[in-house]
Amino acid sequence: MSSHDLKRQAAAAALEHVRDGMKLGLGTGSTAKHFVELLGERVRGGLKVIAVPTSEATRADAQANGIALTTLDEVDRLDLTVDGADEINAALDLVKGGGGALLREKIVAAASDRMIVIADESKLVANLGRFPLPIEVIPFGLAATRRAVEEACAECGVFGSISLRKGSGGHAFVTDGGHWILDAHLGRIPDAPGLADSLNAIPGVVENGLFIGLASMAVLAGPDGIRIIERP
Ligand code: A5P
Repeated sequence: MSSHDLKRQAAAAALEHVRDGMKLGLGTGSTAKHFVELLGERVRGGLKVIAVPTSEATRADAQANGIALTTLDEVDRLDLTVDGADEINAALDLVKGGGGALLREKIVAAASDRMIVIADESKLVANLGRFPLPIEVIPFGLAATRRAVEEACAECGVFGSISLRKGSGGHAFVTDGGHWILDAHLGRIPDAPGLADSLNAIPGVVENGLFIGLASMAVLAGPDGIRIIERP
């Protein structure tokens, strides 16, 4: 079974948790895109939901699929966010931001009563960190911020190269918020909550891709079917 099929199966399984009248957060990435498409089919069949997208790409997808959109200024809390991830551990801590949408993704997840992570089972890892950790930074003072990120990593006992993410034409990749992304190639992150706090204490850091304590369930699709991991 292809990765495409597995992602779609995970998205379909998460759709079973959506109820009429819900306020939803819509994630970003190839797996979340499947969820948006499947949700759109249900909306065209009469399901009433309203949703907050986590990126301009997802906004466009949701609009193309006829999903009514709102903002976190217009609604108080969201019932459920469904999003992908780059890495998931057994405690449901995540690395996110491979698609560059980590800031809005974290704001939306934090404003949601529940977050369901959807992925093919290859995203489940024993230790976070093999996937480069995205860190969203302010362009001003980049070199100083990068040095502070290296020091914060070293103080947390993790080491590796920190690279500026490049987009089209070799220029810095620019997020929806107008920021840049440093990718930290750390290999292994033993203390994810500690590193997340240290990184966010750096003035030039806007947000980091460690999602600690935000996901309530992971829906993982593999060749043997769907596996659910729930936060106790
Ligand atoms: C977007 O910024 C990311 O957090 C994505 O959710 C993550 O990269 C997973 O993307 P895929 O579903 O495309 O693997």
